[in-house]
Amino acid sequence: MVKLSSVELDQLPFVSEPDADPGFPPGFFDRVDPSPDEHFYGRPRLVTHIDREAIRAVGRLYDELGIDGDVLDLMSSWISHFPRTPRRLVGLGMNESELRANRQLAEWVVRDLNVEPTLPFADETFDHALCSVSVDYLVRPVRIFTEVGRVLRPGGLFVITFSDRCFPTKAIRGWLETDDAGHVAIVRRYFELSERFGAVEAQLRTDPQHEGDPLYGVWARRRQ
Ligand SMILES: C[S@@+](CC[C@H](N)C(=O)[O-])C[C@H]1O[C@@H](n2cnc3c(N)ncnc32)[C@H](O)[C@@H]1O
Repeated sequence: MVKLSSVELDQLPFVSEPDADPGFPPGFFDRVDPSPDEHFYGRPRLVTHIDREAIRAVGRLYDELGIDGDVLDLMSSWISHFPRTPRRLVGLGMNESELRANRQLAEWVVRDLNVEPTLPFADETFDHALCSVSVDYLVRPVRIFTEVGRVLRPGGLFVITFSDRCFPTKAIRGWLETDDAGHVAIVRRYFELSERFGAVEAQLRTDPQHEGDPLYGVWARRRQ
């Protein structure tokens, strides 16, 4: 993934997204590469997408929030960043080899959330849900947040983390065209529009003096 600040936005040929979530400016969910995500994610990437300090910050946030029990790792890959593995961690992602290599997952499922914006789980299956450095690739995020609200038990947390890196051809235009504070506002809006969550909290989780990748967390609890 590249630093967002290095992306030449004027040079990007965005393609219109026909069935995007309402409530955002025209073109917000356009992408440079709207081809099926299975092409882009078909090749396993057994790499880390953010630096060590940012990864530690994800784990510390999960620890601090007490993420344990039945947990869903949405847009999962070969690492889930937990210092201690939850009792039952279920991954959902695009690449079978990456998910198979993830030693913290008890189970996993391959699903393209941009093609099928639903979750293949019964209501109230999970205590908590997470989505790490991936929310910027969703073209129907409000539908996904609503679905997460459905599969979470009341009071369960949905924790979104992100940095300032991305795959620019796959990220949505609205994300590429804004800064860290804008990204926090976007995720906050996804929570609010889904109408399934309570108060949204947001924090920069890395030291502001840290010269590497910043790590932001935005989270909220499923309403009772
Ligand atoms: C930058 S990686 C992050 C992986 C992992 N969550 C982490 O923290 O390292 C983006 C992940 O989003 C997943 N992803 C991208 N588009 C997706 C889609 N349409 N549906 C489901 N998962 C998707 C990919 O499988 C990939 O693992």
